[in-house]
Amino acid sequence: MTLDERIRDRLDAARVLAIPIKELGAADRPLLLEHLLGLGAEDRYLRFGNPLSDATIEHYVDGINFNEAAVFGIFDDDLALMAAGHFAPHVNHATPPGIAEVKPTVAEFGLSVAERARGRGLGTALFVRASTHARNLGITTLFMHCLTQNKAMMRIARKAGMEISHSAGEADAYVTLAPADAASVMREAMQEQIALFDFAVKQQLLNSRGMHPVA
Ligand SMILES: CC(C)(COP(=O)(O)OP(=O)(O)OC[C@H]1O[C@@H](n2cnc3c(N)ncnc32)[C@H](O)[C@@H]1OP(=O)(O)O)[C@@H](O)C(=O)NCCC(=O)NCCS
Repeated sequence: MTLDERIRDRLDAARVLAIPIKELGAADRPLLLEHLLGLGAEDRYLRFGNPLSDATIEHYVDGINFNEAAVFGIFDDDLALMAAGHFAPHVNHATPPGIAEVKPTVAEFGLSVAERARGRGLGTALFVRASTHARNLGITTLFMHCLTQNKAMMRIARKAGMEISHSAGEADAYVTLAPADAASVMREAMQEQIALFDFAVKQQLLNSRGMHPVA
């Protein structure tokens, strides 16, 4: 690992611990939907490559398989999702019965940050979180499909050392990940604990003020 990589790794670790990112479950679909419906037409275009209608976004959220994919979210003090990222390993569903499934080695990541929360490093933190998760699952290649006009996303990809191939205004950004190590496993475990604690504290505060019907 070069000095630059070591410095980047430490900065990433500090950033990840400073921004609680929680792994969401199927029960969080309504929150994810609310976040995505809050994106305007331009942002939907940047996120999905298409200015999806509300109904199509609803269909997309309904279709997320939380057993295979992971969805990461960042909550504000009112427990609304400010940012979310969908990590989707490329699972081979064509494996014949009786044959051991080959573990996926490639995963795709797509993310969005609410307009009000941009420029605070949430997008970068989500990407770093997804990279750590990918490493710990044995994924070797993480890729993102974006539009070349997406300057913030291009910046995140470049900072992560991703290789970017351009074609007709679209870009595929790939990064080859190092294998999991003790630090990556520990980092993800700590991140999840911090996120659970952060969520519980916010929930408690809201409940104590009678401001939020969260159980
Ligand atoms: C792309 C997106 C996720 C970035 O979220 P964010 O939380 O604002 O990102 P960050 O704060 O981590 O900033 C990322 C970097 O981009 C830079 N950046 C932001 N806007 C930029 C712009 N217009 N031009 C150049 N760089 C820009 C930031 O300065 C930062 O770089 P730095 O860390 O060196 O300062 C957010 O803008 C978004 O949700 N857009 C709509 C959906 C989308 O495009 N999704 C990605 C498709 S997969």
